[in-house]
Amino acid sequence: MIAPGLVQVNDCSTNLPEPFGFLLKCRQLSTTLSDATLIMLILGIETSCDETGVALFDDEHGLLAHALFSQVDMHADYGGVVPELASRDHVRKLLPLCDQILVSAGKTRADIDGIAYTAGPGLVGALMVGGAVAHALGFALNIPVLGVHHMEGHLLAPMLEDNPPAFPFVALLVSGGHTQLVKVDGIGEYQMLGESVDDAAGEAFDKTAKMLGLDYPGGPRVAALAEQGQEGRYRFPRPMTDRPGLDFSFSGLKTFTLNTVNAARERGELTEQTKADIALAFEAAVVDTLTIKCRRALEQTGSRRLVIAGGVSANKRLRAALEKMTAKTGGSVFYARPEFCTDNGAMIAYAGTQRLKAGQRDGERIVSVPRWPMNTLPPVHEPRANGLVD
Ligand code: KG4
Ligand code: ZN
Repeated sequence: MIAPGLVQVNDCSTNLPEPFGFLLKCRQLSTTLSDATLIMLILGIETSCDETGVALFDDEHGLLAHALFSQVDMHADYGGVVPELASRDHVRKLLPLCDQILVSAGKTRADIDGIAYTAGPGLVGALMVGGAVAHALGFALNIPVLGVHHMEGHLLAPMLEDNPPAFPFVALLVSGGHTQLVKVDGIGEYQMLGESVDDAAGEAFDKTAKMLGLDYPGGPRVAALAEQGQEGRYRFPRPMTDRPGLDFSFSGLKTFTLNTVNAARERGELTEQTKADIALAFEAAVVDTLTIKCRRALEQTGSRRLVIAGGVSANKRLRAALEKMTAKTGGSVFYARPEFCTDNGAMIAYAGTQRLKAGQRDGERIVSVPRWPMNTLPPVHEPRANGLVD
């Protein structure tokens, strides 16, 4: 029985397009899984959206190598990600990137003990490319393979830094598709505290960028423009902060921004300075809103540790506001280096290592789950099969 949303590849040798076919030539007949304790060197593969990310994580020595190819330039003409183009580009870039990091780490394919790939959430075609390569390589090398959750990858990315957070903590996940507050008691022990009822914070940044005539992805561009803004010219609403609860809503703020842009344009005032002032007012509203909800979540859970992860956690103003807020209560905030806040292979290699070490593996099927609630993941302290495969 396959759970809804899973993809089964029945006959790899006929279904897989080049360049995967050649991998099957070195197919080994034994299907015995490696002993969980022998999991040392993990290849991580991220292809959920518009970045092809790969990494090699060594359980003893940490991150050995990582590489990323961003498709941003390819999608820029369309103002957003075109799924079919994304999938095709992952096909082109993935294996060369894998070989590149093996060379830079002084390793060969034979040194890899396990493979982790992003199984979801994400674009189904893009996910399938990572899953197909991971399974073909795993089959050829006779090593275990595991599909991991993209947002869990983001959540655990700060573990790659020198001062990693200890469990338990509260996590704010802020990416292009998600805005969530989660109580984290361990890997796979997630209690959802609140989430966006409409747009994600990153999505609101991207849409605001479009209104201001900035390219995709908008977050970093809005943040850069906001640096030139004058404080106090505009004040935007802080949605859902005047009522209890930990949910978010950013679509009203998006409409408010659009109305402000249109009004300025009609008055002939939409100068570069006005755009910068609007960018600043928008960014301040998002940062304030996230900070208020994080403070509430810390109070509610009694936690003093806050982790922020996902693309928007690269935002300097957000980091500074959360540092200030947590410092007041003697708490601390943890985040990854900017390149590991946005999509990357290192976070997938790290998350996959923890789960592969606990004995979790895919079956023979490529797991691809475009929509996948993170709180359905199994905890790692109980070695058992990935909850998504029967
Ligand atoms: O985590 P991510 O790379 O991909 C998803 O899983 O969605 O997040 C991408 C999002 C985009 O919406 C992008 O505009 C936003 O993160 N982002 C930022 C910044 N850097 C990336 N938003 C605000 N400030 C930034 N510096
Ligand atoms: Zn992401």
